[in-house]
Amino acid sequence: MNYKLKCVHCGKIYDPKKVKYTCPVCGSRLGTLEVIYDEFPQVKKFDVGHKGIWAFADFLPVKADHFEVPLLVGNTPLYEKKDLARQLGLKNFYIKDDGRNPTASYKDRASAMAIAKAKELGFDTIYCASTGNAASSLSGLAAASGMKSVIFVPKSAPVAKITQLLVYGATVIAVDGSYDEAFDLSLEVGEKFGWYCRNSAVNPYLLEGKKTGAMEAAYQLRWNIPDVAMVSVGDGTVVSSIYKGFKDLKIAGLTNKIPIVIGVQAEGANALMRTFNSGIFDKPQDMNAFSMADSIAVGKPRDVLKACKYVKESGGKFVSVSDAEIGEAIVELARKTGVFAEPAGATAYAGLKKIKNELKNKSVLIFVTGNGLKDVKTVKSFVGHVHVVKPEFDAAREVLKDAGAI
Ligand SMILES: Cc1ncc(COP(=O)(O)O)c(C=O)c1O
Ligand SMILES: [Zn+2]
Repeated sequence: MNYKLKCVHCGKIYDPKKVKYTCPVCGSRLGTLEVIYDEFPQVKKFDVGHKGIWAFADFLPVKADHFEVPLLVGNTPLYEKKDLARQLGLKNFYIKDDGRNPTASYKDRASAMAIAKAKELGFDTIYCASTGNAASSLSGLAAASGMKSVIFVPKSAPVAKITQLLVYGATVIAVDGSYDEAFDLSLEVGEKFGWYCRNSAVNPYLLEGKKTGAMEAAYQLRWNIPDVAMVSVGDGTVVSSIYKGFKDLKIAGLTNKIPIVIGVQAEGANALMRTFNSGIFDKPQDMNAFSMADSIAVGKPRDVLKACKYVKESGGKFVSVSDAEIGEAIVELARKTGVFAEPAGATAYAGLKKIKNELKNKSVLIFVTGNGLKDVKTVKSFVGHVHVVKPEFDAAREVLKDAGAI
């Protein structure tokens, strides 16, 4: 597809052959770029089952002979939950489970796009800073594509995510600092060594890969767009991508509606919500972030401007939830639907529960952005314990009785 890059801050339009990452005038924080297309073709059929995200290649900034990671990225399940909709007072309730991607998070959609771009531009090494999932995604997809990956994560990232990186053969730099510090360090190092950058917001193409989550959901719902879409928010790229995915489908004439997009943050890391509520989107309300939802423990959101603009355009807003509410949401979602989400993955559900009275009789779609097995340690304190017994029938019966199972 033919496309250009437009600065979200000053509106200047750039030729993608001349500018790779962010607006040279507005800088890397506010000058993030939007991909704008000349026009979309009149596609009516999508081979989502076989192609995953590439079923939407006509909506993506790639050439006809683009590189496709040899893994099925996307084509994740969308569940309709009628009973739960009734319990929550909603008209319909849908869950898009993106924990079912190859490396178990939504980030695979962005990494597949970044690798396609890196290959197009002739890079053999790609780097990123990440709270964990973008990193494990990049390292897994890079391994599948024969590329080298260099990863910067905060030392505190959950062990499953760090182990995933090492298993895939990435070079891992565990930064003794926050995600925000790891991000700044990675930009400096990556720039020096001339590697391709897969950092949230800085690379404008990631959002395009991510928007396929919304497009796929629309396709699975037979173009019946829900009233509200909810997703968790750290840097703000995923929430922006949900809006843009639905918007591009509307521009292409495949749908006639864009849902209200609601971003959900952790209370200890709600910089984007506070910026949005201040009404001054280009003065980010940065903070020292903490949340057990490590994937969204972001104090300096990099896609702040885009996320605020897009969410506002959709008529949506941001809400925040406590870590306790996130913990309860993980357990409830797992027990009521069988979908096991990592803390950031269940955050959208926690947000939905918090504002369910405002959403009465609406049809609501939530995105589960990461799999629960990514971080079992955090959720342990929200569940019961096992019953240890000797290998004897009477002992088993006693504990079953105590546990109320018989
Ligand atoms: C599981 C999960 N959910 C949500 C997010 C938030 O995405 P963004 O940082 O683009 O807001 C992330 C980002 O790392 C994530 O890993
Ligand atoms: Zn600019």
